[in-house]
Amino acid sequence: MAIILDGKQTAKKITDELKLKVQNLDKKPSLAVIMAGNNPASEVYVKNKEKKALEIGFNSIIKKTDENITKEELLKIIKELNEDDNINAILLQLPLPKHLNEKDFLDKIDPKKDVDGFCSYNLGKLLKNDSPYAIPCTPKGIIRLLDEYNIDIESKIALVIGRSNIVGKPVSILLLNRNSTVIMTHTKTKNLENLTKTADILICAAGKKEMIKKEMIKENAVIIDVGITRDNDGKLKGDVDFNDVKEKTSYITPVPGGIGPMTIAMLMENTYELYKIQKGIK
Ligand code: GUN
Repeated sequence: MAIILDGKQTAKKITDELKLKVQNLDKKPSLAVIMAGNNPASEVYVKNKEKKALEIGFNSIIKKTDENITKEELLKIIKELNEDDNINAILLQLPLPKHLNEKDFLDKIDPKKDVDGFCSYNLGKLLKNDSPYAIPCTPKGIIRLLDEYNIDIESKIALVIGRSNIVGKPVSILLLNRNSTVIMTHTKTKNLENLTKTADILICAAGKKEMIKKEMIKENAVIIDVGITRDNDGKLKGDVDFNDVKEKTSYITPVPGGIGPMTIAMLMENTYELYKIQKGIK
């Protein structure tokens, strides 16, 4: 019988604990989110982040800009937030408008305020298994959820589908740092099904609706679904065909209510941790 990995409940536990910790601080931690343009999905994500931040007792600052903001203007916003002592955490919401390249901006965020852990300093530290200031939120949330259910990672075969800088690559490194045997797969991978069938832990971050069917997985696999696609009827679907695979798995995340809430919880935890680093609090 499959056990559902309840991301919603686990995230609530984490944010409830943060709420208590924040009450004991002299000053509220502040999270600044830069929302460049008006990508509708991003607008929903940013609203959800703000709602959670305020609920915990953080200050939330949203810097919303025009869709056609220039590179110089966006760099100026980042510089001002870096220099503002009242701001502890900075998030540049992705994707950026088409005329802008995220590579021109992510390394401009102060590594000590880089709440996503996307800058080269923090990613380099992650690669070397050497204490980044922040770890990317979705990958961190995946590992935390596995830990919460005492699922063994060490020496397991973990297969990751998708090689994005946001999820696929960093989660592969986190798994490797925990002594998992990691298989990284992507759109150019041949015979994916032969590989997925070997995986004890399958992390799906491909963004392809319900691509994982029961024939593709190992008996009693642990399935983590990072995909979110909206169906024609408005329902959210993952990369995994949940009803098809469920009975063959040992643990599985639902969509929604799995990795989504864990990502937001880790963003809040990272904000709190960056605040502590900046204030020299242990
Ligand atoms: N867009 C989708 N996911 C993320 C994320 O984790 N961080 C940022 N900054 N943008 C995103």
